Amino acid sequence: MKVLVTGGCGYIGSHTIIDLIENGFDVISVDNLSNATEDSLVAVEKITGKKIKNYRFDLCDLANTKRIFEENSDLIGIIHFAALKSVGDSVYQPLRYFDNNLNSLLNILKCAKDYQVSNIIFSSSCSVYGNAKELPVTENTPWQEAESPYARTKQMGEKIIQDFTHINKQNKAILLRYFNPAGAHDSALLGEAPSNQANNLVPVITETAIGKRASMTVFGDDYDTRDGSCIRDYIHVMDLANAHTKCLQYLMSDKNQANCEVFNVGLGDGATVLEAVQAFEKVSNEKLNYEIGSRRAGDVIAIYANVEKASKLLGWAPKHDMESIMKTAWKWEKARTKMAGE
Ligand code: NAD
Ligand code: WQD
Repeated sequence: MKVLVTGGCGYIGSHTIIDLIENGFDVISVDNLSNATEDSLVAVEKITGKKIKNYRFDLCDLANTKRIFEENSDLIGIIHFAALKSVGDSVYQPLRYFDNNLNSLLNILKCAKDYQVSNIIFSSSCSVYGNAKELPVTENTPWQEAESPYARTKQMGEKIIQDFTHINKQNKAILLRYFNPAGAHDSALLGEAPSNQANNLVPVITETAIGKRASMTVFGDDYDTRDGSCIRDYIHVMDLANAHTKCLQYLMSDKNQANCEVFNVGLGDGATVLEAVQAFEKVSNEKLNYEIGSRRAGDVIAIYANVEKASKLLGWAPKHDMESIMKTAWKWEKARTKMAGE
C-alpha cells in the first residue's frame, strides 16, 4: 500500500498525504522544494504521527527519478502533483513551464512503465476547459484554447497520459481536474505556504485581513453575473485530498471503466468574488480592506463544475462549504503568522 506522492511538500500534496495515511496507505514524497519547504511534512507528522521520507530530487532528472523507484520496489501507485503552477509567470516563462511540467511527467511515466507501477493519478486543472461555452462544465465539455502556457501544460499532460495508457495497458490513470482549491487542515498546523508569492483569492483575502497586505482588489464588478464579480468553484483542500484516496481505491479494485478516466473535482457550485469576501467577513468577524478594481486580463467570467461523475463512480462527496474554507484558511493564516513571529 505504498504510494509515491510527487510534490508532497506542496499545498495539495501535503494535505493529500494526511488523507492517504488516515486511509491506511504508506507514503513517500519527492519534492525539489522549488515552491515549498519540508516544514509541511513536519506538520504531517504532528497530525498523523507518521514521518514521511522526502527525496529532494528534481523529477526532470531521470537518473534520480529512477533511484526512487529502485529503492521502493513495492509502490502500488503514483500521485503526480509536482508542477509549476503560476498562471501569470507561465506567460513570461513559457519554456520553463513546458520544461518542468512536461519533462517531470515524462520521467514519471517512463518509470511507471519500467518499474510496473500500475496506478497513476495526475493533477489536472479546470484551466484545460479555457473559456467554457457551457456551465456547469462536465468532463465532456469541449476544451477551448488554453489561456496560458500553464494551462497548455495541463492540456498536453492529459493528452500524453491518454496516449501512454492507450498502448501501455498495464498502466491505468485518472486525470483529476481541480477547480479552485482553498482552505487548510482544521488543526491549523498545515495550510498553503508557498515559497513564491500567493496570488489566489483566498490567501490574498487572509493576508490582507492579517495586515501582510494593506488592501486587496476585487478584479471587476461589471461582469454579467449576479453581483458583477467573477464566479468560481472553490473546493476545500481536504475534500480534494480525499478525492485522490478515492481514486486510488477505485483503481486498485479495478472499478475503472477505461484505462484513462477523467473526473472534475469541485464543490459543484459557483461563488462570486464578493460572496467569498462576505463569507470571510462573516466567519472571521473582520472587516476586509478591499477596493473594486478593473478586470484582470485572462479571467474567465464564470466557471463551475458538474461533479456527478465523481459522486457516482468514486463515491466522493465534498464535506466542506465556503464558510468552512474561510474558517480554516483564517485559522491557518493566524497560526502561521504567529509561528513566523516566534
Ligand atoms: P504547490 O506549488 O504547492 O506544490 C507543487 C510542489 O511540486 C511544490 O512543492 C514544488 O516544490 C514541487 N515541484 C515542482 N516542480 C518539481 C520538480 N520538477 N521536481 C520535484 N518537485 C517539483 O502546488 P499545489 O497547489 O499543491 O498544486 C499541486 C498540483 O495541482 C500542481 O500540478 C498544480 O498545477 C495542480 N493544480 C493546482 C491548483 C491550485 O489552485 N492550487 C488548481 C488546479 C491544479
Ligand atoms: C479567483 C477569482 C479573480 C485575486 C487559478 C488558475 C487555475 C487554477 C486555479 C491551477 C477570480 C479574483 C483573485 C485577487 C480577485 N489553478 N481575484 N482579487 O484565476 O480562478 O484560477 O487557480 O490549475 O488554473 O487560473 O483563481 O484565485 O486567482 O482567482 O478579485 O487579488 O478571484 O479575478 O475571479 P483563478 P484565483
